[in-house]
Amino acid sequence: MKILVIHGPNLNLLGTRESEVYGTRTLEEINSDLQGLASELGAELTILQSNHEGEIVDAIQNSKEYNALLINPAAYTHTSVAIRDAIAGVQIPTVEIHLSNIYKREEFRHKSLISPVADGQIAGFGPDSYFLGLRAALLIANAKQINS
Ligand code: DQA
Repeated sequence: MKILVIHGPNLNLLGTRESEVYGTRTLEEINSDLQGLASELGAELTILQSNHEGEIVDAIQNSKEYNALLINPAAYTHTSVAIRDAIAGVQIPTVEIHLSNIYKREEFRHKSLISPVADGQIAGFGPDSYFLGLRAALLIANAKQINS
């Protein structure tokens, strides 16, 4: 199974950015653990972090070779019709993930434009959201293969 992992804006700052909310693990550390879990589960990951909406849209449009998308759209979760439309357009099995529980935070974070086009969302478990998300992505990718 080939899984595309996309980290949205400011997630390159993990480790130092608002550590009371996002913890102290760096993106590099999370990616390395995610790669470890992927090899245990027999999945192949391509990981991208971008601070640019258009770059994320391009990556989603070019995701045809992947079986599923694991995405933390970060701030674009709450604003990006373009990312929402890209996911809807390519119809890739998608798991939306967040380190923090966005529903426990400021009201502007309570709405996700991505959730209606994702298969599911995992939020609030810190870096473990990614690991749970990878398992969920494999689950839906396998189910899609069986049903096709
Ligand atoms: C986030 C939550 C978003 O509201 C925020 O803008 C982020 C990170 C999370 O992982 O908890 O940048 O997606």
